[in-house]
Amino acid sequence: MRGSDPAAVAALKAGGLVILPTETVYGLAADAGNPRAVAAIFEAKGRPRFNPLIAHVADAVEAGRIAVFDDRARALAAAFWPGPLTIVAPVRDRERVCDLARAGLDSVAVRVPGHDRARAVIAAFGGPVVAPSANRSGRPSPTTYADAVEETGFATAEAVDGGDCIVGVESTVVSMLDGRVTLLRPGAVTRAEIEALIGPIDTGGDGHRSPGRLALHYAPDAPVRIEAMQARDGEILLGFGPGSGEARWSLSPSGDLREAAANLFRRLREADRERPTGIAVAPVPDQGLGEAINDRLRRAAGFVG
Ligand code: TXA
Ligand code: MG
Repeated sequence: MRGSDPAAVAALKAGGLVILPTETVYGLAADAGNPRAVAAIFEAKGRPRFNPLIAHVADAVEAGRIAVFDDRARALAAAFWPGPLTIVAPVRDRERVCDLARAGLDSVAVRVPGHDRARAVIAAFGGPVVAPSANRSGRPSPTTYADAVEETGFATAEAVDGGDCIVGVESTVVSMLDGRVTLLRPGAVTRAEIEALIGPIDTGGDGHRSPGRLALHYAPDAPVRIEAMQARDGEILLGFGPGSGEARWSLSPSGDLREAAANLFRRLREADRERPTGIAVAPVPDQGLGEAINDRLRRAAGFVG
């Protein structure tokens, strides 16, 4: 049946692309070991080939088959999987996650998604599944089934409707290479939660760069202006917290960061559909999950992070 888990598994096995729900954002999934399927992902998204993909696996045992985890990586996996944390570690199996999926790197990004249907499909498929966010490159990630189909549905053999994504921003990406711990992308698992478990995240120096962190990213068509106190002519204002009465929508009327994250991309897309001259977004505090929200907003506004 179209849209069923078995149909999605069959499509993956046949080398097709599948829209797959996760708890963070919708993914565009393919067999990580099939270079032609992986090439089709880059093609559909218009994604530069130097930007590697995340391998999604059903559990930590599967992760250990494709990546080499040290003690701290194992501790993070035990604490946060299934869930919105991606661990970058040395690659163990270069076949199961092909060169193109890793953009030729000796490392691989791995996560176990916290969405039951995603894990069920991956487990039934029986191997790692690469899944970048299902948007075309540079655009806001889709957090609803309809938005995912609108973005990249044209390229897919199957699409699984898993409802709205409850987290709403992409996973935290942590690099664990050469004994260093680096935060490559803030996300729903916060810096403080990671440090509470394994000690300080390394800062300064070059660290390990994430090839995909392009300056303009997550951007709707309309220009985005952040830290806005009020809307200018023709702009739509997205508020946050009590007191943004003038705002058309609020990311969270009560000022709740989880709610704001869950609403972020959906509201940016909704506002964009009205073709405003711009989208203004009220200030969001930088603590906890706010770090991820502000990271996405700064990139949508065109600031290099
Ligand atoms: O929440 C998520 O992570 C979503 C859902 C669908 O799982 N996926 C996602 O994938 O956000 P994508 O491709 O949009 O972002 C992957 C990020 C990119 O910034 C990429 O550069 C980085 O992970 N990445 C992947 N492999 C890497 C590696 N070996 N070294 C450094 N960064 C890597
Ligand atoms: Mg993305």
